[in-house]
Amino acid sequence: VGSHVPSRVLTNHDLERIVATTHEWIVTRTGMRERRIAAAHEATSDLAVAAGRRALEAAGVQPADLDMIIVATITPDYPFPNTACLVQRQLGADRAFCMGLEAACSGFLYGMETARCYIAAGMAQTALVIGAEKMSAVLDWTDRSTCVLFGDGAGAAVLRPAPAGRRGIISSVFGSDGTLSELLMIPAGGSRRPATAETVAAREHCLRMRGREVFRHAVTHMAEAAVAALHKAGLSIADIRWVIPHQANLRIIAAIGERLRCPASRFIVNVEKYGNTSAASIGLALDEAVRDGRIVDGDLVLMVAFGAGFTWGATVMEWTG
Ligand code: COA
Repeated sequence: VGSHVPSRVLTNHDLERIVATTHEWIVTRTGMRERRIAAAHEATSDLAVAAGRRALEAAGVQPADLDMIIVATITPDYPFPNTACLVQRQLGADRAFCMGLEAACSGFLYGMETARCYIAAGMAQTALVIGAEKMSAVLDWTDRSTCVLFGDGAGAAVLRPAPAGRRGIISSVFGSDGTLSELLMIPAGGSRRPATAETVAAREHCLRMRGREVFRHAVTHMAEAAVAALHKAGLSIADIRWVIPHQANLRIIAAIGERLRCPASRFIVNVEKYGNTSAASIGLALDEAVRDGRIVDGDLVLMVAFGAGFTWGATVMEWTG
């Protein structure tokens, strides 16, 4: 695994100078203290490449060994070509086929599962999965209810068949509900409402969210997906060493902990440092916890995500590293 965040830190106090908010409100309602913001010249693929290089190094894999690259993002460099192709070019991973994946904050888990299926089907041996976002590029910096919540970053993992006797990815469950798409979206700039001077003036090319409703669905679906993935794996929450939830809000994470009856000490949380980095969030948290020695070889890890669409999912794995 590997990750990368831009060097510029935007604190809650910095945000007090941009919109009518306070450090106290943001900490109490979200648990966030700061987030990272990419430079104007940095695009999502640049963050993705940095995270991808770290993951390749950690895995001892050369770019030429990669059969496939998946980049999950809702902030691609361009509408097309897909960001994974741009990552391939920078890495020099000539043999890989490349695809983008749009599942918002669930993107990293959807990407892991897609790569697992290709590997299990014998269509790839070595895959690089990256979740990367430059959320700062799609935020409405005049909307205090959304601009304080998100940050930029990337998380990456190299996937290969599990060694003999090891379980690797044990179970996954996924779900979606397109009937609630309008609760969290970018309303304009796509084919339904192409960008015009009017849509830009109205900031409709920026993220819009009905936060309270999204909150409720996030808790329900993440808790249910976690239980379903555990059931499918034949495990109980007591067997799980670490839970890595999507880092959207500390209160959402606490509510999931309560529903799963799992103490906060077994949750990997870094939302205070990075805010919600969407598709990057689980990969970033996984990488930090592996590098600082919390997650060790043999640990059973439960990852659980929820995002726009709506999309959600949970994966149980035995960490091998
Ligand atoms: N600073 C100060 N006040 C703010 C604020 C900010 N940054 N943003 C909103 N407020 C105000 C609102 O205007 C509202 O004021 P009002 O009562 O006078 O209308 C008040 O705070 C409460 O807003 P509400 O939306 O009810 O707060 P909340 O407790 O639901 O918290 C979120 C708001 C966005 C933090 C919370 O709903 C949330 O985290 N939702 C899920 C977001 C998410 O995870 N999305 C991605 C999923 S992948």
